[in-house]
Amino acid sequence: MSTPVKRYTVTAALPYANGPKHIGHLAGAYIPADVYVRYLRLRQRDVIFVCGSDEHGTAIPNQALKENTTPRAIIDKYHALIRDSFRELGISFDVYHRTSEPLHHETSQEFFLALHHKGLLTEETSEQFFDAQANAFLADRYIIGTCPRCGHPDAFGDQCEKCGSTLSPAELINPRSTLSGQTPVLRPTRHWYLPLQNYEPWLREWILKDHAHDWKPNVYGQCKSWIDAGLQPRAMTRDLDWGIHVPLPDAAGKVLYVWFDAPIGYISATRALFQELSSGTRQFATPQRDFGAVQPDDWKTYWEADDTQLVHFIGKDNIVFHCIIFPIMLHASQRFIVPTNVPANEFMNLEGNKMSTSRGWSIEMHEYLTDFPGKPDILRYALLTNLPETKDSEFTWKDFQAKNNNELVAIFGNFVNRALVLTQKFFANMVPPRGPATPVDEHALAAIAAAPAAIAAAIEAFRFREATAALLDLARTGNKYLADTEPWKVARHDLPRVGTILHIALQIAANLALVAEPFLPFSAQKLRSMLRLQPHPWTAAGSDTLLPAGHELGLAELLFEKIEDPIIDKQIKKLMDTQNAPTPAPVVAPLKPEIVFDDFTKLDLRVGTVTAASRMEKSDKLLRLTIDDGLQARTILSGIAKHYTPEQLVGQHVTFIANLAPRKMMGIESQGMVLMAEDGDGKLRLLQPDHPVRPGATIS
Ligand code: MF3
Ligand code: ZN
Repeated sequence: MSTPVKRYTVTAALPYANGPKHIGHLAGAYIPADVYVRYLRLRQRDVIFVCGSDEHGTAIPNQALKENTTPRAIIDKYHALIRDSFRELGISFDVYHRTSEPLHHETSQEFFLALHHKGLLTEETSEQFFDAQANAFLADRYIIGTCPRCGHPDAFGDQCEKCGSTLSPAELINPRSTLSGQTPVLRPTRHWYLPLQNYEPWLREWILKDHAHDWKPNVYGQCKSWIDAGLQPRAMTRDLDWGIHVPLPDAAGKVLYVWFDAPIGYISATRALFQELSSGTRQFATPQRDFGAVQPDDWKTYWEADDTQLVHFIGKDNIVFHCIIFPIMLHASQRFIVPTNVPANEFMNLEGNKMSTSRGWSIEMHEYLTDFPGKPDILRYALLTNLPETKDSEFTWKDFQAKNNNELVAIFGNFVNRALVLTQKFFANMVPPRGPATPVDEHALAAIAAAPAAIAAAIEAFRFREATAALLDLARTGNKYLADTEPWKVARHDLPRVGTILHIALQIAANLALVAEPFLPFSAQKLRSMLRLQPHPWTAAGSDTLLPAGHELGLAELLFEKIEDPIIDKQIKKLMDTQNAPTPAPVVAPLKPEIVFDDFTKLDLRVGTVTAASRMEKSDKLLRLTIDDGLQARTILSGIAKHYTPEQLVGQHVTFIANLAPRKMMGIESQGMVLMAEDGDGKLRLLQPDHPVRPGATIS
């Protein structure tokens, strides 16, 4: 526990390469992780920052179906889009790997085999839902049905989104497959399980005892309730044709569970980084730090040495995987270290609603970058000041505008600009010498000295909002210092005094350039070049001699620019328009003209039982049904071939019109008509009594 820290392995959740990622993802994991890593680099700590695309799991083939293309095309497209957006936003990964890479397949298979050879995986056969028409086992998400708790008709096999209950597919009433709409059947299948329950004593010790005070309460609380609820064996393999093959004989058609392979992706990414470094083929080209001469095997210390701190940045939906399942895998391997901390964030909402790419209610990273070119720092700042660190937070465009106009422009930018422009005006753009300090000067100098420690303490405690506020406080101090000392007025009678004021103001600006780097890397760089300030380590911050008297400054430019209302209104409108877009509203048929009771009694409606069903040659719509109506076997042709298979219908009750004049279709006489409910979405459903009845039961 008290081993001195030698190096850091920092990870940010591998995003699914199944679509663009939005600013909620940035606020959840990537922005805080980047601030943390940039800070550690400035501290000259040995840190690596790894990430990459999560390219397995059902999310990928699912998206391929939606886009009518292949899983490979999906991952190639979104991997590139997400990676480039991160780069443009200044997320400074040392490596951005892919779980589709052979290196990752190899690393995951080795990991799996290592556990298997130790006898740590159990093999069990269980009944799983299978879609006979699609010829596939169904992941929980692929089964929908009626929620047993609240009656919501479209609950998922793992969760009801209406009432929030966690479900298992077997609990659903009338389960159906999302692939074909058919009722799934149970089929036995064999899988490899990780017996999580065996690690409960270890988890209690490691999390509940050792991390009771240094993990965030939201993270600790979730872990505790998982552990207290009782851990179960969890399948580490799946029946799927997209993923990493289970490296065992007799495992055809089985792949590793995506949540088994994806976190191993952090390890693969680290291996890839050291391969790239040792062969001089860096891929994610942000030149982060000089690693010196390295060997391919050097990755190991970042995952195996006790003096390495492993920190996972994630959103709250990933907590169980990063705090329970993956740590159990790491621990069980008897080879790898477990995380020191998992500073998970809650969610960020958008203009009053949950962010969601599929529902169009989101701001995608690449869209922001297109609409606000060259302004990644504003977004970084707006998110940082509003991170969902302790509870869900909310992004609004008006707040984004206010943060930019009232803080970045009016405080930070305004201060820097005044200091530089006045130095240009009165001192030929050279840092003036400093005279004796007055109390107001002392106050400013004390703020310079105190700011870096306040910012650092907040970052190290994963309180990035507080750290960002402390950064802005330093700019505010500078701005107030100039407002209080009014050098533009003093210039009329006491130029040496103006020199002292600007000297101190410029030291504040130089400190800002240094400590703002983790938060606003692009603006910090710009400010450094305006000041012609060399890069400094964090330990230089707090000094009031970063810029010596006589140092010549660079060209003053505007650090931040005001965002006018029309720009913001346009964004709000864009968001609202996605909601007004014609969503396929359920079509409710208009009512027919009124009838009298006698009209109704003319109809002879009955319930029968289907005893045989077959397809009709030359028709893809009609099925030929034989119906036991209690008196005879009746033939009815029914246009439901697209909605039910013959096998599904045999044995089912149907409701039909028994006294409709017979009609010949395709050479066969149809003796009645089966009644169906039509749902506006084009699907037809049988009308059935809610309880079995005798064939021939009448309806009135
Ligand atoms: N792709 C997952 C998600 O978006 C996160 C995977 S994190 C990893 O929720 F650890 F598995 F890599
Ligand atoms: Zn429900």
